[in-house]
Amino acid sequence: MPHDIPDPALVVLVGAAGSGKSTWAAAHYRSAEIVSSDALRAIVGSGTGDLDASTDAFAVLDLIVAARLRRGLTTVIDTLGFDRDRRLAYLALGRAAGSPCVAVHFTTPHAVCRARNAKRDRRVPASVLSKQVKRSAALAAELAVEGWDRVQSIDATLAADGGPPTPTPPVAARAATSTSWPPLPGQGIDYILNISRFPWGADPTGWLRDMALAAADVGFAGIALMDHLIQIPQVDRAWEPIPEPYVTLGHLAALGTDLRLGTLVSPVTFRQPGVLAKSLATLDVLTAGRAFAGIGAGWWEREHAAYGLPFPQPRERLDEVERAIETMRALWATGTKPYAGRRVSLPETTCYPRPIGRLPIILGGNGSRTLRIAARHADAVNLPSDEATLSAKLAELHTACAAAERDPATLAMTVLDVSVTGEDREDVARRVERLRGRTSAAAYVRRHHAGTVDEQRRRRDRLADLGVGTIFLALPDLAGASDLDRLRPLLTP
Ligand code: UTP
Ligand code: MG
Repeated sequence: MPHDIPDPALVVLVGAAGSGKSTWAAAHYRSAEIVSSDALRAIVGSGTGDLDASTDAFAVLDLIVAARLRRGLTTVIDTLGFDRDRRLAYLALGRAAGSPCVAVHFTTPHAVCRARNAKRDRRVPASVLSKQVKRSAALAAELAVEGWDRVQSIDATLAADGGPPTPTPPVAARAATSTSWPPLPGQGIDYILNISRFPWGADPTGWLRDMALAAADVGFAGIALMDHLIQIPQVDRAWEPIPEPYVTLGHLAALGTDLRLGTLVSPVTFRQPGVLAKSLATLDVLTAGRAFAGIGAGWWEREHAAYGLPFPQPRERLDEVERAIETMRALWATGTKPYAGRRVSLPETTCYPRPIGRLPIILGGNGSRTLRIAARHADAVNLPSDEATLSAKLAELHTACAAAERDPATLAMTVLDVSVTGEDREDVARRVERLRGRTSAAAYVRRHHAGTVDEQRRRRDRLADLGVGTIFLALPDLAGASDLDRLRPLLTP
């Protein structure tokens, strides 16, 4: 039985329209065990939505429930379940029959109910649905004191049975794929999908799941989320959703894919470095060693002001980057001994769970001090993908490595590539025309490296020749999972 609900039992469903009651019932009980007001409306009236037939339908329903319970048969009552007197009457019948009495309360979020409602032939009006969802939320307290043997609450967002999402292989079974990542110069190149906009409509979890599964399917090695508190003007309007990335990455981790997960990049001004270290260590464990730590100095004053965060001068922010790297490394190291470094001293370094492997730190930004910090402390540095800029930055990076006595071959290079890829020239032109806004088509093509899959493949090879190991690919026109399909030939060797 689902969720260890006793059997036989009286099971009373409670929840708004579209919250998944009937689906859950059908997944777990024989149809003869389910007594549904909708189905009975269709029998005594003209159809499931024939509200004029409600009185008769409920009269029949009561008869059936009473008859079944008298016989000690499992009876699932599929109605909205909002009417307290009816619930108590069923409870009394169940008690009289000596049946365990269970209320199953569907707490599926409003957005999900709304999205499902929109897909139905006969829709419940939006205002009615939102009242139902509110009413349903208030019911938890009532159900708790009505005397049910058990109140089971179910969020039927993810799985058709309203239980946990499809089981994924245990973490241990998914061994970390590589000890050294991102690839060092000359060790090949892989793609990470960089998600900076989230046009998920009414179904955030569905959108994220579909996107992650599609990313894994078409050949991305991972997903990076942008870390901003307000959507940035370069990407979209300020009122478009931009979710907290570590919460979101935790959700993606639960999908059980082989994707590497992290941010590109987290401003060190947002979270105290020890707390960031903790989030990342946890993410690493939840992804079987596939987390990466993208960090940067932060640049957007407005989001700091809006969220009450200090936004010091660049110099101090870069000091903070060094402090963050020191803190993370100290907390992620084995043992719990005290740490005394250049900018940071900690009385102990007790951080469990510890990351599974070496959790790579990717430093974003291309100012000269950032490059110097990268040369001294980072596993990878993230640079622009424009080949001319990249070549210039590489020269600077090599100088910084020399000053830090670091072999540049041990510093991975990643690029953020906000590019437009089309199936053929016609498709590229169409996309550019749609996206360019007031920028001329030619300028847009240049800035966004617009090209066919073949052209992108050649670009990728040139980037690899320059020593790039990972391309964080952001699609300016990313709307949904199906947008990733056309990248398959680029991502599969
Ligand atoms: P249900 O028809 O199960 O909702 O699902 P309900 O709570 O019983 O709604 P009312 O009160 O009778 O109107 C609504 C829609 O959501 C889909 C179902 O396929 C159906 O189209 N659904 C439900 C899912 O996709 N997944 C689920 O886990 C549950
Ligand atoms: Mg139903």
